[in-house]
Amino acid sequence: MEFLKLPEFKNIFDQKITDFFENLNLKSHLKDPLFYYIENGGKRLRPWIIYNFGQIVSANKKNLMDIAIAIEILHSSSLIHDDLPALDNAKLRRGGPANHLKFGEYKALLAGDYGFTLPLQIVAKLDNINEGNKLLLMDYFIKTILKLFQGEMEDLIFEKEDKDVSEKEILEMYSKKTGAVFGFCFASPFLMTGEVQLAKEMNIIGTDFGVSFQIFDDLKDLFTTEEEIGKETNKDINKKTLLNFYNYQETQIIADNIYRSVLQKLEEINLKELSQILKEVRKTVETR
Ligand code: IPE
Ligand code: IPE
Ligand code: MG
Ligand code: MG
Ligand code: MG
Repeated sequence: MEFLKLPEFKNIFDQKITDFFENLNLKSHLKDPLFYYIENGGKRLRPWIIYNFGQIVSANKKNLMDIAIAIEILHSSSLIHDDLPALDNAKLRRGGPANHLKFGEYKALLAGDYGFTLPLQIVAKLDNINEGNKLLLMDYFIKTILKLFQGEMEDLIFEKEDKDVSEKEILEMYSKKTGAVFGFCFASPFLMTGEVQLAKEMNIIGTDFGVSFQIFDDLKDLFTTEEEIGKETNKDINKKTLLNFYNYQETQIIADNIYRSVLQKLEEINLKELSQILKEVRKTVETR
């Protein structure tokens, strides 16, 4: 079994996703804003998880790469919309001006729309996969996207309407806006090969991973620099996060505990190799 380290995977993946866009028959007024965040970088953590987790069940490599591309397009589209003036009003993303500052708001909005739908077509076009498994994968992908929208909506409502929210409501919001996509990354390789029960367990573990990822993201807003993470910092002052309930050290411990429990749960279901590779990216998650 061959796992790829994140930088090595990123090189291969970046070429594949570039080829995908080159072969896409799409006018530049949509292609350019849609591809803009993708070509500017990003950790590629979600595609990397899909690809490596798929090695465990010897999933078809082409299909893994296609799903990886689909999830990265979905993720960057969620960032295009998340950055819009009406939402987070972000100025900087992946080290460059936010999409709407570069292309204008209407193009960013429509490119994001396109990027939420295009990934579904990638899934629909998969071949070398059992049709039943493909349908399950499609249904699961749609559920993931709907959860992401629900989570983003809750996040924005909590902030903009200055809601008095509980810790539980915040964690639930995290599990939707960030956890759902990670749940999909953990589970989809297993669904592709028909391991339905294992996929369900992986979805739960991956969602927890996403929650811990989001808590680290909230901490980065306070304790890293714009140069390090390529987006604005000290921006979440009015946002409802766990930091409304806990101080920095306590919040760090919570994120750390969830991350550790993810590793432990993977070991409990005999996926020690996956636990190991996630351990290796922990620093990246925390600091980039
Ligand atoms: C940012 O995701 C959005 C969150 C869910 C916090 P990443 O931190 O993975 O962003 P990129 O892809 O590396 O730019
Ligand atoms: C956004 O969370 C998560 C998404 C689903 C887009 P944030 O708003 O905290 O993400 P950043 O900090 O802008 O990357
Ligand atoms: Mg946001
Ligand atoms: Mg944001
Ligand atoms: Mg953030």
